[in-house]
Amino acid sequence: MSVECARVGGINLAQGVCDTPVPPVVRQAAQAAIEEGANVYSRAEGVDALRQQLAAKMRRHNGLDYDWQSEIVVTSGATAAFYVAALALLEPGDEVILLEPYYGYHSNTLHAVDAVPRYVALDPPDWRLSLDALEAVVNERTRGIVINTPGNPSGKVFTRAELEAVRDFAVAHDLIVFTDEVYQHFVFDGREHLSPAAIDGMRERCIVLSALSKTFARLFVIPVLAPSTAVSRTPAFSSSPRVR
Ligand SMILES: Cc1ncc(COP(=O)(O)O)c(C=O)c1O
Repeated sequence: MSVECARVGGINLAQGVCDTPVPPVVRQAAQAAIEEGANVYSRAEGVDALRQQLAAKMRRHNGLDYDWQSEIVVTSGATAAFYVAALALLEPGDEVILLEPYYGYHSNTLHAVDAVPRYVALDPPDWRLSLDALEAVVNERTRGIVINTPGNPSGKVFTRAELEAVRDFAVAHDLIVFTDEVYQHFVFDGREHLSPAAIDGMRERCIVLSALSKTFARLFVIPVLAPSTAVSRTPAFSSSPRVR
C-alpha cells in the first residue's frame, strides 16, 4: 500500500511512517552499544534488561503487572509480534474480527497464517462500536478480535465503557483479544489511552502488542509484548500444535 501510495503521490493512511526525529538518548545509546560490541545474536525472547524495563513500563504507563521472564517477548516490531502470536494461537480457518477502518497488516497477517478476517464497520464520525454488528458476525469458528487503540487510520481511542463491552463480548464467546497499542503515546484533546488488558477480566485473554517504532521513531529491534499467563492457559494456546 505504501509503494502504491508513493506511486500516485497520495497521503499514506495505511502505514504509520514516522516523521519525528529519533530522540538523542536513543541514538547515543545505539551508538554506544555498537561501540561496546553488542553486535552479535541476542536471546531469542529479548535480552533480560530490556524485558525488565518493558515490565516496568507496563506497570508505569499501562497499570499492568507482567512477569518479564514468562510474559514478555521482544520481536522485530509489532508486525512480527502479531504474526507470531497469530501463528501460535490460531488454526487455519479460525476467524478473527477486525474493526473497519483497520490497519492493513492486521488483515494481511491473518491471511498469512490462513486465518479468516471478519470485518465489522465502526460508525463514523466518532467510530462507535456496535455490539449488534459484532454479534452478527460471531460464530463457532470465531477465535479472536483485534482492538487497535489508538487506532490507525481512524485515530479512534476506545473508552472504558467500550472496552468493557468488548470484554463482555469476548468473555461470552471465549475470544482472544489481540490489542495493538503502538500509538499509545499519541493521544490528543484530553483523551487517555487505556489498555484493554487493564479492564477487569481482560488480562487473561489479551495479547498486548506494543512497539518503539512510533514512540521513538525507530524501525528496528522492538517489542512485542506479550503477555499473558492466562492466554497461555486457554485451550487454543496450550493445545495448538503450532505453538513454538
Ligand atoms: C496500528 C499499527 N500497528 C503496527 C504497526 C507496525 O509496527 P512496527 O513497525 O513496530 O512493526 C503500524 C505501522 O504503521 C501500525 O500503524
